Amino acid sequence: MLEKRDRILTGDRPTGKLHIGHYFGSLQNRVKLQGKYETFIEVADVQALTDNFNHPEKVKKNVNEIVMDELAVGIDPNKATIFLQSMIPEIAELTVFYSNLVTIARLERNPTVKTEIAQKREIFGESVTYGFLGYPVSQAADITVFDGTIVPVGEDQLPLIEQCREIVRKFNSIYGETLYLPKAVVGDNKRIKGLDGNEKMGKSLGNAIYLSDSDEEIARKVMSAVTDPGRIKKDDLGNPDICMVSYYHKLFGKDPKEIEEIEKECREGKRGCVACKKQLIKNIIEVLEPIRERRRYYEERPEEVKEILMEGTKHAQKIAKETMKRVKEAMKLDYFA
Ligand code: TRP
Ligand code: SF4
Repeated sequence: MLEKRDRILTGDRPTGKLHIGHYFGSLQNRVKLQGKYETFIEVADVQALTDNFNHPEKVKKNVNEIVMDELAVGIDPNKATIFLQSMIPEIAELTVFYSNLVTIARLERNPTVKTEIAQKREIFGESVTYGFLGYPVSQAADITVFDGTIVPVGEDQLPLIEQCREIVRKFNSIYGETLYLPKAVVGDNKRIKGLDGNEKMGKSLGNAIYLSDSDEEIARKVMSAVTDPGRIKKDDLGNPDICMVSYYHKLFGKDPKEIEEIEKECREGKRGCVACKKQLIKNIIEVLEPIRERRRYYEERPEEVKEILMEGTKHAQKIAKETMKRVKEAMKLDYFA
């Protein structure tokens, strides 16, 4: 029987900087939980290559950006282990073993994979690669090689965690109780809409506020946010329910009274949209400033960032080796042990 214990494992693909959608969806949770459980944060460079195999320089450049973003939001390298996926060969090895436990039809039905394939037509054309279709299998290896039981992620990742759970159950039923069953933990603000009103905030959609954006960038983005189109003059009665500025006030406002006041004034036509946006810009800057300040600290110290990633990777390598030993024993692959 497996000893009962919890460990956090989560990760990000290094394909760009992190934005406030990541912050509210998953980063805040990681920071909150890192003191409570042993925490592993993977920079998923191998997974990033599944849809960027022809842009290795882009993946490489973004590894550092992701590590700095994690540190900037408050991940503490003394509490959490940040590591690089490509330096853990056991993940690739486990992926091969798990690939026997998953059907192609099941992968093709995975809603997250399905959506992504549809969005990436220009990369994959009519036929998706084996590697991309199989990335949920490799993600299951990411999680289980560290015995991850708690996986803080955004809502879009739920089908991947479900697929991982299926693999774990199947593995355990065939080879005996060997792997820990993971569980997803999603932030309260599950999915953050874009400033343009799009249901999702995303790099590719061009509607995101990045953790590293400057005051000017934040101001420019907020000024162009979608508001109630029925409001032309300041005293037109407004509807904050269809305004992205009001939606963002709810995310960034410190005081519920302030938010109530904004909605009331908007409905009564007592609030100008420009002033309303300026107030939001101020609130966003206030929330992001400590994050940006810590990010600047690390931007000026690349050696320290490298050291954190190297030390984390070394620790992760040790853990992965231990799990692999258990897995190989269970699979009768312990020849020379
Ligand atoms: N698929 C995740 C994303 O795109 C990144 C990721 C890789 C991950 N490995 C993971 C998330 C393991 C949780 C657990 O954001
Ligand atoms: Fe939106 Fe504020 Fe304008 Fe109302 S006043 S429509 S909440 S920007």
